[in-house]
Amino acid sequence: MVPSDQPVSAAGFDFVIAANRLPVDRHVAPDGTTTWKTSPGGLVTAMESVMRDREAAWVGWAGFPGEAPEPFDEGKLRLHPVPLTAIELNEYYEGFSNDTLWPLYHDVIVPPTFHRSWWHAYRRINERFAEAVAEVAAEGATVWVHDYQLQLVPALLRDRRPDLRIGWFNHIPFPPVELFAQLPWRAQILRGLLGADFLGFQRPDDARNFNRSCRAVLGASVKGDVITWGGADDDRLGAAPRTVRAAAVPISIDVAGFEELARQDEVTEKAQEIRESLGNPEVVLLGVDRLDYTKGIRHRLRAIGELFEDGDIAPPEVTFVQIATPSRERVEAYRVLREQIEATVGRINGDFSHLGDTAVHYLHQSFGRAEMAAFFQVADVMLVTPLRDGMNLVAKEYVTARHDGGGALVLSEFTGAAEEMRSAYRVNPHDIEGLKETILRAIRDAPGEKRRRMSSLRRKVRAHDVQTWAAEFLDALAAAPERPSKRASTSSAPPSQ
Ligand code: ADP
Ligand code: F6P
Repeated sequence: MVPSDQPVSAAGFDFVIAANRLPVDRHVAPDGTTTWKTSPGGLVTAMESVMRDREAAWVGWAGFPGEAPEPFDEGKLRLHPVPLTAIELNEYYEGFSNDTLWPLYHDVIVPPTFHRSWWHAYRRINERFAEAVAEVAAEGATVWVHDYQLQLVPALLRDRRPDLRIGWFNHIPFPPVELFAQLPWRAQILRGLLGADFLGFQRPDDARNFNRSCRAVLGASVKGDVITWGGADDDRLGAAPRTVRAAAVPISIDVAGFEELARQDEVTEKAQEIRESLGNPEVVLLGVDRLDYTKGIRHRLRAIGELFEDGDIAPPEVTFVQIATPSRERVEAYRVLREQIEATVGRINGDFSHLGDTAVHYLHQSFGRAEMAAFFQVADVMLVTPLRDGMNLVAKEYVTARHDGGGALVLSEFTGAAEEMRSAYRVNPHDIEGLKETILRAIRDAPGEKRRRMSSLRRKVRAHDVQTWAAEFLDALAAAPERPSKRASTSSAPPSQ
């Protein structure tokens, strides 16, 4: 972490990304010492490897309320913090982003909350991000905006800087119009997004949902994946006519980098250590998620609890490890979820653990990348059972870490990853009987069958890594609103300064 001694040059950056979070979060210990840690979530995992060694600016929040630190450099990357007060965090981040949009975009698993004051804060903070990007972007720069927290930035930025090429990528699902239509500010969100030249989504269904919403809510015309919005006769956000392309560009992981890490001796030794400390069970089941109601952790625990109860599995032969990363802990739905999960883990352990043999190991903690790779190597069966998930990078990390060809992946059909990872043991997490049967099948299938599936999954993930994803997105952005040519979609790299 190096404080930048160079002010943004008058020329600015040719490549700028904007995301709610910077790749690092500042943490202040009780004794006042400050450390910077990798920010949580799949967005940062993916974008960190895409942006490494690129001359670019990353505009985002530094992870704590109050005055923002001065811009600083991480390698060639200029990090440009955007300040958020405690009230803004409550209204824009915890409120509108994570208690209105997040549940609405994830099939209303919990009911979304609609507050006008949250909406006003969301709009204000999106303006602040647009201002910050407008300040650091060079004439004609490429700007890549990320995720649902910044959906108004494309139009707000275009108003300020019509010279920019603007792309937006949604890391989470885009809901069907029947759900999206509940949002009191649905037209403003669509008009905000249509300020971009190209909009990327995880699955073709997400892009279709968006296109249908533009037609139904705005009356825009949609031909294939090109949306033509005739503009509005008012002076509100995004009133100008636009032609924009919206298509699926599924995200991935840094396959080569993660596999290289997973092959290190340190990781193999750590994996042995973990297995030993679990009491060398025959079968380790693993779940790794942010502690989020979208991840289906409750359904997973229900199935596991019943398998213990039915006597199909038992410690010490079989044990379940659930790693749950702390997340959005001030939002009520997340607090309730944590209580429910911890009560369920306690109940299962009370009923089925014996002294020295634990049924469920629950770790409400964050780990380093090497330790995560070691956990994946220990997992004989990986349980990825979200009720809805934009992609789920954990599924891709798991198969990448299994360079030994071992392991088995149980994967919910409601993840973006399930579109590509067809050889996984697929489940509908709402079907508890089906989930139990599939977990047992993943444990008991013949080793040959499991290896065949794993090898096919590894091939699939290797063929489409995060670098390919970024190139596809940036090619589509450069070519938008036309379809990118075949040649273009494999060639270009982002511009450097
Ligand atoms: P989301 O973006 O919803 O959190 P993803 O599965 O797409 O879900 O990405 C999660 C990322 O966070 C992965 O890179 C995963 O390895 C990482 N991760 C999850 N749990 C932990 C943890 N406890 N400690 C460290 N990293 C974690
Ligand atoms: O990918 C979904 C996402 O919401 C990202 O936008 C975010 O970085 C990540 O999950 C973690 O969530 P949060 O930033 O709210 O901790």
